[in-house]
Amino acid sequence: TGRVRLHHLQQAKANGARFAMLTAYEQYTAEIFDQAGVEVLLVGDSASNNVFGNETSLPVTVDELLPLCRAVARSAKRALIVADLPFGSYEISAEQAVATGVRFLKEGLAQAVKIEGGAYYAPTVRAMVQAGIPVMAHIGFTPQSEHALGGYRVQGRGDDAQRLIDDAVALVDAGAFSVLMEMVPAETAAAVDAAIKVPTIGIGAGNATTGQVLVWQDMAGLRGGKMAKFVKQYADLRGILSEAARSYADEVRSGSFPGPEHSF
Ligand code: KIV
Ligand code: NA
Repeated sequence: TGRVRLHHLQQAKANGARFAMLTAYEQYTAEIFDQAGVEVLLVGDSASNNVFGNETSLPVTVDELLPLCRAVARSAKRALIVADLPFGSYEISAEQAVATGVRFLKEGLAQAVKIEGGAYYAPTVRAMVQAGIPVMAHIGFTPQSEHALGGYRVQGRGDDAQRLIDDAVALVDAGAFSVLMEMVPAETAAAVDAAIKVPTIGIGAGNATTGQVLVWQDMAGLRGGKMAKFVKQYADLRGILSEAARSYADEVRSGSFPGPEHSF
């Protein structure tokens, strides 16, 4: 089985099939998720608050994300590698967006990029696609606009659903190969999915999208603290790692590690 490509995701939508996407930021998780058959790996700007220790996604830079992207792309043999363009690296102009997108494909070895925003960004998407950069659009709750949106809030409720449909249609007309929706009522997400021909991806957007995505540290229970309602935790990695670290430290202090079997 070769590399997952855009047309495979498109096929999934056409066939009523589904695919999985997870974030990845370095070698081993990229390798593990790739070998587990996860179709799409996202080098998310969520690295900001899941790798670099920031509170939000806003501070992370292109120069910080590029090496993570390169590591993921080198480590995953089959998954499609999508990179987030971080806050401030594409908003100014279509020219800026093309330049940043080129860096992610050239230096980051990504195969596609994702940008946040609605119909306003259609010309930006068109310029990037013309330049040979596949673009995934991210609508609904867009974390880079957290301050403008007044915090983490569900988008596209009630009458606001039509705005999301219009955004999605405009972005797809401009050439976006996929539309990701975050924190959108299931019913709205289903209406968006029905309005466009390209595959949709949901996070907190119900079960009618073509694909689903989660931040891997949430999915695997590595991050502590309160999880968003849309997160399902499939493992308790924090507990496992914490136990391992405690046992190791205890054995070092007691002198039982290293034993003769670990010594030369
Ligand atoms: O940065 C990220 O992890 C994302 C996904 C949660 C969609 O954009
Ligand atoms: Na992101």
